[in-house]
Amino acid sequence: MNELSVPRPNSLDAFWMPFSDNKYFKGTPRMLARAEGMHYYTPEGREILDGTAGLWCCNAGHGRVEIVQAIQKQAAIMDFAPTFQLGHPIAFEAASRIAEITPEGVDRVFFTNSGSESADTALKIALAYHKARGESSRVRLIGRERGYHGVGFGGMSVGGIGPNRKQFGALLPYVDHLPHTHLPAKNAFAKGEPQHGAELADALENLVALHGAETIAAVMVEPVAGSTGVLVPPVGYLKRLRELCDKHGILLIFDEVITGFGRLGTNFGAERLGVTPDIMTMAKGLTNAAVPMGAVAVKNGVYDTIVNGMPAGIEFFHGYTYSGHPLAAAAAIATLELHKTEDLPGRARAMEPYWEDAMHSLKSAPNVIDIRNFGLIGGIELSSRPGKPGARAMDVFRRCFDKGVLVRVTADIVALSPPLIVENAHVDRLVGTLDEAIRAEAA
Ligand SMILES: Cc1ncc(COP(=O)(O)O)c(C=O)c1O
Repeated sequence: MNELSVPRPNSLDAFWMPFSDNKYFKGTPRMLARAEGMHYYTPEGREILDGTAGLWCCNAGHGRVEIVQAIQKQAAIMDFAPTFQLGHPIAFEAASRIAEITPEGVDRVFFTNSGSESADTALKIALAYHKARGESSRVRLIGRERGYHGVGFGGMSVGGIGPNRKQFGALLPYVDHLPHTHLPAKNAFAKGEPQHGAELADALENLVALHGAETIAAVMVEPVAGSTGVLVPPVGYLKRLRELCDKHGILLIFDEVITGFGRLGTNFGAERLGVTPDIMTMAKGLTNAAVPMGAVAVKNGVYDTIVNGMPAGIEFFHGYTYSGHPLAAAAAIATLELHKTEDLPGRARAMEPYWEDAMHSLKSAPNVIDIRNFGLIGGIELSSRPGKPGARAMDVFRRCFDKGVLVRVTADIVALSPPLIVENAHVDRLVGTLDEAIRAEAA
């Protein structure tokens, strides 16, 4: 057991922590050692209410015995088997289970190990698709400002987060970006989908005019941008984007790594927002994060075009040693079973009005300049301390943790995404602690 064998590591030096302030952390570590239901526990046994489902991923709550047992059982039956030119039944079963809940006709599933790999896989599928159709000139990839698609070179390049890109040189060529949809002057404190901004999708026409439709392979967006602080799409925006992609023969990719598996009260964001993409990425909630796994689901026609378009032999020169890993497949099947039997999307949907009211109750707290919510996601934006962007929210994060509540921050935005098993009392505690912390960091 993790918390029994290494209650406090002797040295924090070796582990180079991802997306972390290593210097600060290693001077003031905050550790998690165990998790169950809605809570984490520190090595000292302190209970921490999980307001973020880990990192937007443990939608069914922590330590679900059904998932644990499925992983244990599978580990004993077969630890690993390759999926290159071989198969094992459980990977096929996991793909079929995913296809049961993806939008109709989006039924072919490629396995990866993470959201980043899913993003890069989706982009490569888009390029291979156009090549198979004889439109090899379609090599340009369009993302969106403030988009996050992980950290591979594809996802990072198509993503629109400056700090994630600036350290890494030239990135992928032939990439351009749509404007983000954050319009605080018009949409501040909007509940759910904001009213203004559908016309921002028309910026795709400008990119088509600039580059030529015949050079553009795909547009990739998150249905709701999570990592850059909860940007909910304006009413009609995604439908407009879909129409424009259709008009110009461009594939539409939804990055559903956060919005999949019940987070928006439906199986995927596509369903909630009434727009079906050609390709969708997923990860996180797929296995409840118990074993890393990602996937890319594509329209059957996209699969058929690539697979039938190639002569006999390997049709798509892409894959991971661990694509369809047996333990991950077992975790996915058990998770999707819980998703169905416990109707996790339905629970999220039922909780949404209470969640929305709770989020917006923070409006009166000092320095709160915007609140955004959709499904079981909330974003509370704080004004920055002069000359210290991000500092106020980071202090709020630390204060909440010390008071027993886990929130997530990005710049000066607090982002919330509890497990979908959250109950009213948890929401009250989360918001109460956050309110206190924001007030305590008013200066
Ligand atoms: C929309 C989106 N895409 C991709 C990723 C990257 O996923 P991973 O960290 O599993 O590579 C994330 C992670 O938060 C995400 O939110």
